[in-house]
Amino acid sequence: MVRVNGNYSKLQSSYLFSEIARRVKAYAATNPPREIIRLGIGDVTEPLPAACVEAMEKAVREMGRRETFRGYGPEQGYDFLREAIAENDFRARGADIAPDEIFVSDGAKCDTGNIQELFSADVVVGVPDPVYPVYVDTNVMAGRTGGFTDGRYGGLVYLDSTEANGFVPAPPASGPPLDVVYLCFPNNPTGATATREQLAAWVDYARANKALILFDAAYEAFIRDDSLPHSIYEIPGARDVAIEFRSFSKTAGFTGTRCAYAVVPATCRAYDADGEAVFLRPLWNRRHTTKFNGVSYPVQRAAEAVYSEAGKAQCRALVDLYLGNARAIRAKMAALGHACVGGENSPYVWVKVGGSSWDFFDALLREKQIVTTPGAGFGRCGEGYIRISAFNSPEVVAEAMARL
Ligand code: MLT
Repeated sequence: MVRVNGNYSKLQSSYLFSEIARRVKAYAATNPPREIIRLGIGDVTEPLPAACVEAMEKAVREMGRRETFRGYGPEQGYDFLREAIAENDFRARGADIAPDEIFVSDGAKCDTGNIQELFSADVVVGVPDPVYPVYVDTNVMAGRTGGFTDGRYGGLVYLDSTEANGFVPAPPASGPPLDVVYLCFPNNPTGATATREQLAAWVDYARANKALILFDAAYEAFIRDDSLPHSIYEIPGARDVAIEFRSFSKTAGFTGTRCAYAVVPATCRAYDADGEAVFLRPLWNRRHTTKFNGVSYPVQRAAEAVYSEAGKAQCRALVDLYLGNARAIRAKMAALGHACVGGENSPYVWVKVGGSSWDFFDALLREKQIVTTPGAGFGRCGEGYIRISAFNSPEVVAEAMARL
């Protein structure tokens, strides 16, 4: 008899963005009075930067000629891309990361979901609340939690991110020490950012408690405040206690193209049952080479082009366009009397609406034909908020704001 993984029965019935898509589809079938505007899931709308398109076209032509054709590439990514990443994303910011510490992949969602395979079933996992659901659901699937009651899974440690702490939780001063903690800055969903001092407190905590930080920096390209760190590795000591995740999805419009990477420094460690340190890079390399065959050559060439002079300028313009939308959304919601976070160094605006966030979501859909994301979908502390995404054209965002 084939038995299913019983942990799946603990999961909420559907993934947040699937549930939203279901509700929008059902509403769309009722012939709404005007076009539905989508400011829900953080999916980009603007075309790929020209530098990326040119590089991809050239690479596709190489694949069409016998002399330049390539089959399987290195699972970890081609050296040309790993070197460009190390140089531009880390060394240029004073962070000591080498190309062979970078693992190119097809998405930060997959990487942040898969990484927990490296840890034992009984590690104590900390997640912020509100939280990107992937961190939670993948640990549920792996059997690290109890059931779901009152908006939370038993066995996880939830770190409240609320107005009281500026939406940036500090390391816990009491309770069980965390073994693994997920942090995401600029944050999804709140758009909050963490200062150098706040990240340093987490690095100190991880070092003191032999813990590991899983740092999701998928939105770092939106940082415009020069005082804010872009990478956890800008914090001294982080190399030993942190894995970082990056993505080309929001930086360069790659949501449909698929390219991302994880950084596992050579000195980053966990511990075995005897308390002996075990380096994580060889483990992740083992997993990656066993379960993944690499990102396609044309896509890696397109990602490399992000770091060309033209690519840098085009990506910055792309991100600036979405940041302009974010400013407009925040200004409008503030003018309507809502307290807001994010939208300054982030594409997401976290808007306080009071009351049920699913009710607010449904009302915006029915009355204004605007899709947002209900804060409660990200966790208990998200109740009373909605997240508005700036990923759309300025014209569409202006139309949405006019409707409000
Ligand atoms: C979001 O809307 O939170 C993101 O699009 C999710 C993702 O990047 O997977």
